[in-house]
Amino acid sequence: MTTSTIDIGGKTVNRLGYGAMRITGDGVWGPPKDHDEAVRVLRRAVELGVTFIDTADSYGPYVSEDLIKEALHDGTGYGDVVIATKGGLTRSGPNVWPPLGRPEYLRQCILMSLRRLGVEQIDLWQLHRIDPNTPREETFGEIKKFLDEGLTKQFGLSEVSVEDIESAQAAGLPIASVQNLYNVGNRSAEDVVDYCDAHGIVFIPWFPVNAGKLANPGGPLDEVAKQHGGATTSQLALAWLLRRSPVIAPIPGTSSVAHLEENLKAADLALSDDEFQTLSDAA
Ligand SMILES: NC(=O)c1ccc[n+]([C@@H]2O[C@H](COP(=O)([O-])OP(=O)(O)OC[C@H]3O[C@@H](n4cnc5c(N)ncnc54)[C@H](OP(=O)(O)O)[C@@H]3O)[C@@H](O)[C@H]2O)c1
Repeated sequence: MTTSTIDIGGKTVNRLGYGAMRITGDGVWGPPKDHDEAVRVLRRAVELGVTFIDTADSYGPYVSEDLIKEALHDGTGYGDVVIATKGGLTRSGPNVWPPLGRPEYLRQCILMSLRRLGVEQIDLWQLHRIDPNTPREETFGEIKKFLDEGLTKQFGLSEVSVEDIESAQAAGLPIASVQNLYNVGNRSAEDVVDYCDAHGIVFIPWFPVNAGKLANPGGPLDEVAKQHGGATTSQLALAWLLRRSPVIAPIPGTSSVAHLEENLKAADLALSDDEFQTLSDAA
């Protein structure tokens, strides 16, 4: 994989990473159908040059973090690989994720992630959602303590607006990353991408290979893919994100080695200016 790099979690990583939500059961609940394939996906990702892996305590819950430790921990840690995790959601069943931003719960989240991942410090700990029922100063104040105590090297937000980012910064929190739903077909977070670009904040788009109708046979992604002999629409969607801004670090998720290998080849796909514009205008 040849891709440009970005600084996150105190290390320089390849911009095309891996999202570890799909190595769990249906509804992101329980163990994956194929445990051994999940371990192979994680190891193959690192073999192919992935140095940025995104997970969360709520994936499973706990299953994704446990699998990362099983597959990748070398006895002391993860070497050059940044493991970014998240806390702040509770799980009360498949596909159910109520947020909880109370300080004592967030502290439990980060302390348990440290134990499960087998590290003394998280590289990048992200607040999965801002809890509307907990005063922000309580949530942000506790996270500031995590940074001061060295429980996490860096902090990031997830599913936020520009105003949310500014309110966290105003509370004294340095924001290293923002993770929002964003892909070539869904551009609702465009203003957040521009803000991150202008302020040097890493933007981690989730659902990155989903391009909706744009990926239909005969659609714009398919047409451009044909000009790149044998490229797939998933690769095109990732290549578009890599081209969109140098602060973007996509984390495509998959439960299969075949899809992983396909997705990582997107790093070698250079879009021309015209192709980039055609796809940008198609949404
Ligand atoms: N912050 C948040 O709130 C939030 C929310 C959701 C996700 N995330 C993070 O973002 C990561 C990526 O998001 P995501 O997993 O939802 O979306 P995604 O990476 O856009 O797509 C994953 C889905 O597409 C399929 N897929 C992947 N590569 C493919 C390929 N080459 N061809 C055909 N199908 C392919 C996967 O199925 P297979 O398993 O069959 O490949 C899976 O169903 C997650 O893993 C997680 O780390 C964060």
